[in-house]
Amino acid sequence: MCGIVAYLGDKQAYPILINGLRRLEYRGYDSAGVALLDGDVLTIHKCQGKVSDLEAHVDGRSHAGTVGIGHTRWATHGPPNDINAHPHQSTSGDLALIHNGIIENYAPIKEELLTRGHVFRSDTDTEVLVHLIDDIQRTEGVDLAEAVRLALESVVGAYAIVVLDRKDPDVMVAARKSSPLVIGIGDNGEHFVASDATPIVEHTKNVVYLEDGEIAVIDRRQGLKIRNIKNQVKTPFIQELEMHLEALEKGGYDHFMLKEIHEQPRSIRDSMRGRLNLAKGEVVLGGIKDYEQKFVQAKRILIVGCGTSWHAGLVGEYLFEELARIPVEVEYASEFRYRNPIINEDDIVIAISQSGETADTMAAIELAKGRGATIIGICNVVGSSIARVTHAGSYTHAGPEIGVASTKAFTAQVTVLTLMALMIGQKRGTISGSKFHRLLNELDVIPGKVEAVLRNEAQIKYIADIYKDATNALYLGRGFSFPVALEGALKLKEISYIHAEGYPAAEMKHGPIALIDEEMPVFVIATKGASYEKVVSNIQEVKARKGKVIAIVTEGDSVVKGLADHVIPIPETPDPFVPLLSVIPFLLISYHIAVMRGCNVDQPRNLAKSVTVE
Ligand code: AGP
Repeated sequence: MCGIVAYLGDKQAYPILINGLRRLEYRGYDSAGVALLDGDVLTIHKCQGKVSDLEAHVDGRSHAGTVGIGHTRWATHGPPNDINAHPHQSTSGDLALIHNGIIENYAPIKEELLTRGHVFRSDTDTEVLVHLIDDIQRTEGVDLAEAVRLALESVVGAYAIVVLDRKDPDVMVAARKSSPLVIGIGDNGEHFVASDATPIVEHTKNVVYLEDGEIAVIDRRQGLKIRNIKNQVKTPFIQELEMHLEALEKGGYDHFMLKEIHEQPRSIRDSMRGRLNLAKGEVVLGGIKDYEQKFVQAKRILIVGCGTSWHAGLVGEYLFEELARIPVEVEYASEFRYRNPIINEDDIVIAISQSGETADTMAAIELAKGRGATIIGICNVVGSSIARVTHAGSYTHAGPEIGVASTKAFTAQVTVLTLMALMIGQKRGTISGSKFHRLLNELDVIPGKVEAVLRNEAQIKYIADIYKDATNALYLGRGFSFPVALEGALKLKEISYIHAEGYPAAEMKHGPIALIDEEMPVFVIATKGASYEKVVSNIQEVKARKGKVIAIVTEGDSVVKGLADHVIPIPETPDPFVPLLSVIPFLLISYHIAVMRGCNVDQPRNLAKSVTVE
């Protein structure tokens, strides 16, 4: 999922674009490029690699101009190389275009354009778009904005684009469908365009989130004008950004991931702020107030998400069934949307997404919404697409998450799900008053307990050093801890490239136990709780096959200490809250192993922070 940025104003565009691309690099880092307009002189610089490679490439070459577009790529069509890097240029050489998304019907359009003499340089779907716009402009004799509109009428797929035309250097045209696009309105007619607000916040807090099917014409003389694909005029809705610049910096940490792991006591506290009221003994979720009754009467909850958000959803299943006694089904959004699922009008669908832009989750929402279900969103990015299409929802308030591997967003998502399950359980009367108040008080001290786990980082780093050369790993957990085993395995895979699997501990005997030998580290969550004894037996089964056991235990546990190769103690807490503590050592272990293996922790290979294409 690429990152796009653009600028039109009085300042030199190049440094603004490069800064913006650095902020967006977590969206894709296969290649980068810029196009600059200095009067009617169009200059394009692009190359394979990171933004720093682009800077080296541009160094010593001309990069003047007060209008420009920039792109950092996550390759979909065509391998990462200089030619497939964006921006792409039209046959006439007049137009330059950047794109985030996928043009699904690019092949037939390309065929048609080839018969009309257009010359294609790359393997990308995107290049087709710039040639099509160029073709329409010339054959229909229309201006850039109209040519873009007509071209997009014949396009199928997802796109966020910005186009420049050297014949009209005072104009920039941007458009979106499915892929996100934000426009920043600066002083003195300056305008910024970007995939998200991170490149814009240092220049202005006034933004317009472009809606699906909208086209923005940014003109140095006339300012910002918005139309939809049917050519109807739209009034820009200007909002104020809540984001702060320092939240986008590493704050003295070596990596965003480590910073975000250490931010969790604060981010969990912020996701509870104004929602957990100990004094009144209640949970208030203003964002879903209008749908509370529907939620309380729900016969079924469907939870949809991808990756780490799906794992948070699994914890949600245990929470709602335990505390609110409502049956829950957790769905991979990508499977859900193509499986023709049974959706009833009285279903509550909870859509979980850190970025709020994941295409599969978006599509699952559209499907469920179309069948009459009520959609409750849990998102982290304010103003994101998912937050805007759901009926209601709760932000996780974890702050910007820049590291590609999700960390604080997971614990914030689980915290919001816990608040929801407690609130609905109390209103349904499925949880006793005393238990409700006990859990509320415990939830209130969880941030302090997370701090205690983080203080044990040195021991966790020591264990990471022992297993940094492993080639495989197993993660085991039962009940509330099973989804955390999946999350621990995902983190290790994502950033250290060690193959790892998470399993319900009891499932191990039905196959994975065959993998165990003295080379296999087995991470087990063995905290005191409903299935403690069972987990202890599972550890003995692993030890019987000489597996290396690293166990997360409740402080003061001596039984597992006597069995496991290493134990990582965490403070005691009831089963429903164990995921908020037990995931922390898994995050730190995967982080330190990845650093020790020399991996790029914040930008792991082949990944991107938000997956805006299917
Ligand atoms: C997690 O570390 C990954 N970055 C990935 O699995 C992620 O959770 C998934 O792509 C979903 O993203 P979302 O929460 O932004 O929708």
